[in-house]
Amino acid sequence: MTDHVTTIAVGALSPYEVTVGRGVLTTVDRHIGPQAARVFLLFQSPLRTAAAALAGRISSSGREVVGFEIPDGEAGKTLSVVAEAWDLLGRATFTRTDTVVALGGGVATDVAGFIAATWLRGVPLITVPTTLLAMVDAAIGGKTGINTDAGKNLVGSFYPPKAVVCDVDVLSSQDPAAIASGLAEAIKCGFIADPGILDIVWSAPDRVRDPSSPLLRDVIERAIMVKANVVTADLHEHSVRAILNYGHTFAHAVERVEGYRWMHGYAVAVGMVFASHVASIMGLCDSALPAAHRDILSLVGLPTSYYPRRLAELSEAMAVDKKNRGTVTRMVLLKEIGDPVVVESVPPRVLEQAYEVLCAPGGGL
Ligand SMILES: NC(=O)c1ccc[n+]([C@@H]2O[C@H](COP(=O)([O-])OP(=O)(O)OC[C@H]3O[C@@H](n4cnc5c(N)ncnc54)[C@H](O)[C@@H]3O)[C@@H](O)[C@H]2O)c1
Ligand SMILES: [Zn+2]
Repeated sequence: MTDHVTTIAVGALSPYEVTVGRGVLTTVDRHIGPQAARVFLLFQSPLRTAAAALAGRISSSGREVVGFEIPDGEAGKTLSVVAEAWDLLGRATFTRTDTVVALGGGVATDVAGFIAATWLRGVPLITVPTTLLAMVDAAIGGKTGINTDAGKNLVGSFYPPKAVVCDVDVLSSQDPAAIASGLAEAIKCGFIADPGILDIVWSAPDRVRDPSSPLLRDVIERAIMVKANVVTADLHEHSVRAILNYGHTFAHAVERVEGYRWMHGYAVAVGMVFASHVASIMGLCDSALPAAHRDILSLVGLPTSYYPRRLAELSEAMAVDKKNRGTVTRMVLLKEIGDPVVVESVPPRVLEQAYEVLCAPGGGL
């Protein structure tokens, strides 16, 4: 059963649509071009049953399906996985009109995107994100990538898909922590561009965490619209796309220092609180902004503080962040909710003060 379906347009040069709805997994095959004789269906283990059903539907139209289950977690985003996929594509004599379909979280959409971008210098890609984080972030905007020994996402390309299909029903198997992690990115979209997202979260923080609630679906659609608008204006991150990194300078440092054991959205939540303190200390925003951050993030169960005495380590990690140019700390900060600016050089003294208040007792870790 499909209820109403929403479509959101993305992209200026190679436009595509994001479809959001319940039960829309059954419509993925409609996005495959008429000339595609073969479909490479990449998926993660929790999606095995859904992948089998999708493969059945695709092959019923006479197409050959090459299924490919990747290792779970970040191990799915490596060169050896890509090399195995290239071998399978070669053996299947995969041509330029054939299609890659990614079914899974951000790892699946990132690696499948990279495979689609590189095979024959680019074959059609359809992404079917199945985690909240992938729906509101990873699957939209055309960034693809893999991890290397030197770090995460260091190899990749900009390669927009032909279509994105978000079936909100698949989120029912996500655990609450994963939903909270995805919500951090949606709340980020609220802070940088659409305060309406924050209003929904404020009004019903419990319902917003429930995958069966229409409120979560509203939040997903609004967050996708924010990302769609930003990447349509600036696909290659020359200008406005940088605002999507709100909270991420500090978040990437936390992830590094924590050995990538923290869920991404949890690190982003702490990163946004940190950024709000930086903005407040610099006199850029109202002094009530940090409290607004802590309140809304803690309402959905996200952390809002961090451990003291780790600033040296974190600063080192911030300096190697590829989004930082040289050794100065470049951060996205808010003048007010919905009004972000990129500050090219945040003084170390401000970082120290912001870290101190972030880690003060009662901060909410
Ligand atoms: N390209 C981009 O713009 C972009 C943006 C943000 C994040 N990312 C990337 O996305 C990745 C993180 O995404 P993620 O959090 O989705 O990670 P993930 O793909 O590893 O998924 C998290 C876990 O959820 C499982 N899973 C997937 N769908 C499920 C479902 N419906 N029910 C239950 N379990 C399910 C996965 O198998 C995995 O174990 C990172 O690698 C990050 O670098 C990319
Ligand atoms: Zn993020």
